[in-house]
Amino acid sequence: MTYDIPLLQKVDMNTVTELNANETVTIELAGLKATRDLAQCLARVAKPGDVIALSGDLGAGKTTFARDFIRALTDPDEDVPSPTFTLVQTYEGDSGEIWHFDLYRLEHPEEVFELGIEDALVDGISLIEWPDHMGAYIPRDRLEVRLTITKGKNHRQAELISHNPSWSERLRACGHG
Ligand SMILES: Nc1ncnc2c1ncn2[C@@H]1O[C@H](COP(=O)(O)OP(=O)(O)OP(=O)(O)O)[C@@H](O)[C@H]1O
Ligand SMILES: [Mg+2]
Repeated sequence: MTYDIPLLQKVDMNTVTELNANETVTIELAGLKATRDLAQCLARVAKPGDVIALSGDLGAGKTTFARDFIRALTDPDEDVPSPTFTLVQTYEGDSGEIWHFDLYRLEHPEEVFELGIEDALVDGISLIEWPDHMGAYIPRDRLEVRLTITKGKNHRQAELISHNPSWSERLRACGHG
């Protein structure tokens, strides 16, 4: 086998930077159905080890998104309460366990380990509300979904930030980006 080192040196560093940069896609969710469609498509393309960080103000729709996502991988009637007080709820999904975290009440980032985050990251699919409360422990290769209440009661804007090219590809598969 031969290695063509000179070729490697021709790599354009601007391209490399671009490939490594986080890709952001902004979409309008013009009602609950649009949020459900996005959550269902992301559930279909999610794999064990994935992390989706859900941020946005109180009432922005983080739990609503997580509920639709979990129901797509369990049962359409699955009871999905907000983990406001339990901090985490787990579900047996089609492709493994789904961990739904709500870190709003976490006082110190370290407390996330007591919730089983390490097991979740190994082979679960993690949905994390208030991910900023885990500080620097936030997983690197995540997809961030940032929800904002914009025009009216049922309208949300979603900023989708892929911290890994595989998320960009999967968002494109869902028709975004
Ligand atoms: N397009 C939409 N997408 C998501 N939620 C919507 C939309 N339109 C209206 N809603 C409503 O907004 C509310 C969102 O509440 P939800 O509990 O999901 O927010 P949250 O971000 O989890 O808040 P918290 O920070 O308190 O956990 C629900 O009542 C939901 O029905
Ligand atoms: Mg919530």
